[in-house]
Amino acid sequence: MTTLLHIKASPRDDGSHSEKAANHFIATLRDRSPELAVTGIDIWDTDLPNFDGALLAAKYARLAGQPFTDEEARAWSRIEAMVRTLDAADIVLISTPMWNLSIPYRLKHYIDLVAQPGLSFSFSPETGYTPLLRPRPVVAILASAGDFSAGLSWGRPDLATPYLREALKFIGLVDAEIVPVGPTAGKTECVLAAAARAARALDDLSARFTGEGA
Ligand SMILES: Cc1cc2nc3c(=O)[nH]c(=O)nc-3n(C[C@H](O)[C@H](O)[C@H](O)COP(=O)(O)O)c2cc1C
Repeated sequence: MTTLLHIKASPRDDGSHSEKAANHFIATLRDRSPELAVTGIDIWDTDLPNFDGALLAAKYARLAGQPFTDEEARAWSRIEAMVRTLDAADIVLISTPMWNLSIPYRLKHYIDLVAQPGLSFSFSPETGYTPLLRPRPVVAILASAGDFSAGLSWGRPDLATPYLREALKFIGLVDAEIVPVGPTAGKTECVLAAAARAARALDDLSARFTGEGA
């Protein structure tokens, strides 16, 4: 059985362009692989611990190769469970809006929590950084009001795409496919064309992931 973890980062109840594209992707994957098991993490509904206090101390203890206190071990075990959930997925799907050139703070919070020494990456001065999660199909759907297909949109850059690609690669989720959905605002024909472009890209990925594509 193939498992897909869907990390949802749009807080919109209705009308989310990123979530609509994600649902389309899941449906096409299911058509091809009816046994696909999907679990979701809504990052706006998930209790993401503050990255301070015992949790932050645990990270620095781990980096320094020191043992945890009981409080640090308790804080760290929550993070271990989050990384286990992420690592259990055969396919990782992120659907997110662009917010202020980048990603919503709750998604950044999630990534800061799962990017941890000894769990998802390691470091030594001799070998540098080594990602610890195994590579697998990873798709990040990025919805934006702007159209970044030709570079800047109204003079503004897309910092979300390079950030997501590098942050995911840092923990081993290499070669993430970033699928833009934009523009999601403006002329209706442009919005519809952007959604159709994204759906086509997702159909190609779905075919590839199920062994039917090029
Ligand atoms: C707080 C906030 C910041 C935004 N910043 C940007 C931005 O920097 N660039 C952009 O093109 N669109 C920006 N948008 C527009 C959203 O990216 C757009 O509405 C997108 O469709 C949201 O994704 P969703 O429909 O999946 O929620 C912003 C929207 C909000 C609410």
